[in-house]
Amino acid sequence: MSISSVIKDIKGRLDGKVAIITEGANIVVADSDLKAAEACAERIKEKFPMHVRKHTLPYKVDVSKEDEFMRLAESRFLPQVDASRVKVSRIESDVTMNTNIKGVWYGCKYAIEAMRRNTTCKGSIINIASYTGFLGSANPQISYTASKGAVIALSRELAVTHARENIRVNTLCPGPLRTPELLNLLNTDDKKNRRLCHVPIGRFGEPIETAQAALFLASDESSYVTGTEIKIDGGLTAAYVTSEDVCTSLPPKNYFKTTVEKK
Ligand SMILES: NC(=O)c1ccc[n+]([C@@H]2O[C@H](COP(=O)([O-])OP(=O)(O)OC[C@H]3O[C@@H](n4cnc5c(N)ncnc54)[C@H](O)[C@@H]3O)[C@@H](O)[C@H]2O)c1
Repeated sequence: MSISSVIKDIKGRLDGKVAIITEGANIVVADSDLKAAEACAERIKEKFPMHVRKHTLPYKVDVSKEDEFMRLAESRFLPQVDASRVKVSRIESDVTMNTNIKGVWYGCKYAIEAMRRNTTCKGSIINIASYTGFLGSANPQISYTASKGAVIALSRELAVTHARENIRVNTLCPGPLRTPELLNLLNTDDKKNRRLCHVPIGRFGEPIETAQAALFLASDESSYVTGTEIKIDGGLTAAYVTSEDVCTSLPPKNYFKTTVEKK
């Protein structure tokens, strides 16, 4: 957004509000186009000579490059990054982002191409995000959380784009499922209970409960359902405070039929 449009946009919107800037403000104007950043910094200094300090700095930064962002964040005019909050390594972050966002995007892209070639039936794409696409976590998992939000957003957009081609796109958002990985991670009662206290139903989900929602989306029963998210999360994303009653909810019967009784 250009500085002139920002200033025009602000007019009238802050009437009656009071902003206090103590000791003048340092402003860093960051843009990948250094000339644009310089022009913007100059205009700020011209418009608000009494309010900004001499350090209204133009800064060249490509925000898609972590190194460049890091240099900007380490600039002496910005508060230092709190390292305790930024625990995800770049490699871990790239793998998560690439798998969860690009993986889903490539899957959609090639599925849509194949669906277009198939003139006899309609298409239903079912992506898997997570309850973390809606909620923040105090445990460091920011790449996972962000990637799941992206899956929800990209699925919605694809749904809207391809609706007239009879291609539906929806997202499943499971809550914590009783998978070996989760049970390994939550390997004490304390750790399990720390999670379960957020789940109104009071137990982890079974993978088949997510599969059943997938079945609905895959079938024509959901023929008018597109661009939406189905939360299979035991009420987790709806909850503010959950009941302290002991959990009486059991996994569905067919879970035992298909998985446990066979063993
Ligand atoms: N388990 C849960 O509690 C839970 C909760 C919410 C959402 N989800 C989501 O449900 C989906 C399935 O979860 P899960 O618990 O079954 O996971 P999982 O880890 O058991 O299975 C994931 C599978 O994906 C494969 N995989 C990983 N990276 C890959 C890559 N780059 N290319 C191809 N395959 C790759 C793995 O080898 C594994 O077989 C995931 O999208 C997960 O984020 C799971």
